[in-house]
Amino acid sequence: MATTLSGKDIAKKVNDELLVEIDKLCDLGVTPGLTVVLVGDDEASQIYVRNKAKACEALGIESNVVRLSRYISQSELIEVIKELNADNAVDGILVQLPLPNHIDPDAVLEAIDPKKDVDGFHALNAGRLMQGVDTFEACTPKGIMRMLKESGVKLRGANAVVVGRSNIVGKPIAMMLLKADCTVTVCHSKTRDLSSYTKNADVLVVATGIPNFIKGDMIKPGAVVIDVGMDHDENGKLCGDVEFESAEKVAGFITPVPGGVGPMTIAMLMSNTVQAAKQHANIK
Ligand code: GUN
Repeated sequence: MATTLSGKDIAKKVNDELLVEIDKLCDLGVTPGLTVVLVGDDEASQIYVRNKAKACEALGIESNVVRLSRYISQSELIEVIKELNADNAVDGILVQLPLPNHIDPDAVLEAIDPKKDVDGFHALNAGRLMQGVDTFEACTPKGIMRMLKESGVKLRGANAVVVGRSNIVGKPIAMMLLKADCTVTVCHSKTRDLSSYTKNADVLVVATGIPNFIKGDMIKPGAVVIDVGMDHDENGKLCGDVEFESAEKVAGFITPVPGGVGPMTIAMLMSNTVQAAKQHANIK
């Protein structure tokens, strides 16, 4: 039976560390500030944004949500971002994804000042990550790496298999695992004989958005299984990309949904915002 990796507990530890750091910044007259840009009224995005604002409040980070109509043009949205880039009270900018179909997300993300890109999605920051240079790292993969570290998982030489190739999770986590000396394989929806790869994984990270996609018989006994999914099954019940019931019988460690990767993502966003505020104020 697998040990459950509680993202909730590790996120609490991260937040406690951040509270100390934010206290020190406040003594120096610096209050970290995050601005979230929300376009349209996607229901899941509203919940995510609310949770981000709550997390800021709990830590004493100033947060502001800029709500924009789903009909806003790309150039108008980019103008809003330019104003935030120039606003000295704003340390971090996050544009909640997905954006409406008529807007090119890459053009919008590249309009964000890379120094304020707390999501780590700007091409410059993604490129720096690929080169192994310290930078703003995307929050979900950064949170996964922290969980692995806190749980004492040995990464050097391990076979890591990532299922999913998104810019938000799949690609950046592959880079981070590579930097941590794993042998990394990236699989995706077109991969032939997927289980021949997953069965060989000492560390398996699944970020496909497909409910219960990975079953227990696709997992190597004793593996560390990280489930990034936030899906709903055929009965509308919240579930992950990994079928927990069968997987926990085989895996050594497994993240639950909810309470696994999710809380870590938000904690890392807070951490990146503090990092942005320190860099902005020239504090080491
Ligand atoms: N939508 C889903 N996940 C994320 C995320 O990590 N950042 C942003 N900006 N939007 C998202």
